[in-house]
Amino acid sequence: MSKKAEILKLLKNGRTEYISGEDICQKLNVSRTAVWKHIKILREEGYGIDAVPHRGYRLLNVPDRLYPDEIVDGLDTSFVGKEVFFYESLISTNREARDLALGGACEGTLVVAEEQAGGRGRMNRGWYSPRGSGIHCSLILRPDIEPRQAPPVTMLTAVAVASAVEKVSGIAPGIKWPNDLLLDGKKICGILTEMNAEIERINFLVVGMGLNINTDHFPEEIKDAATSLYLAGGSRVSRLDVLRQYLKEFEHYYRQWMEYGFEPVLDEWKKRCVTLNRPVRISASREVWEGWAVDVDSTGALVLRTADGELRSFVAGEVSLRTV
Ligand code: BTN
Repeated sequence: MSKKAEILKLLKNGRTEYISGEDICQKLNVSRTAVWKHIKILREEGYGIDAVPHRGYRLLNVPDRLYPDEIVDGLDTSFVGKEVFFYESLISTNREARDLALGGACEGTLVVAEEQAGGRGRMNRGWYSPRGSGIHCSLILRPDIEPRQAPPVTMLTAVAVASAVEKVSGIAPGIKWPNDLLLDGKKICGILTEMNAEIERINFLVVGMGLNINTDHFPEEIKDAATSLYLAGGSRVSRLDVLRQYLKEFEHYYRQWMEYGFEPVLDEWKKRCVTLNRPVRISASREVWEGWAVDVDSTGALVLRTADGELRSFVAGEVSLRTV
């Protein structure tokens, strides 16, 4: 832990009390000048720190920033989010995570950025990623499975995000097959999973997740399709709390998948699904299919009953879907 992080920890432990500069020096074996330098940096990072002569320092507030020290503070996961790479700005956290994974980054490594200049979505779309109002992050995974077994990871991510959002804000988003999270029929979260693999084994997966939390407006071209927790629920939500809870939920469902297969996760997914048992329209391979969404099978494929009674399965990633 860096000296700056140790000073922050002391201030957090003392929360309502002042801690003298002398005490900090002794406990951490640093000079008064070093203490002052770190306090100055912490303030520049947005921490409110009161300094009173002859009394010392006191922490007034923690900024709503996704700093690694804050993310790991109290995070009781065993591998997810244990390694955090934080950036003020990136082109795309998925791209950065891929580069880190190619360089050997371990399973569970988290890449997070306050904003993305070129956030990527599915089907070559972009992802609106303004500074400081949402979560834009990617996880690196190295599951010992074949490439064809990977699709459930995206669905388990959707369950993990929905569960985290519900636990922190009390608002329960619905999941639209395969993995969009919706509130009031509008999208609050998108997931983009990318894979680096050989024919029979995965080298690594990058699971990117974008969640609109405190975003208060969207560009004209997406404003009818996108929403945020703030717009849907009327109050601001701590991004840090949601991110920490997401990492915990992710680890839980990922382990469940590795140990017991996809069924338990799929059950959770179905409970939150808003696509099943209703009419849908699917565009796949330049054709449009209409029918009744009857099930999602054990591979994650959506099963549609068409007007002539035929059952057809659609694999996630190949289609765009509309409820009608
Ligand atoms: C979708 O089209 O629904 C998927 C959107 C995924 C966006 C996230 S934001 C973090 C990560 N980095 C990216 O460039 N994309 C994903």
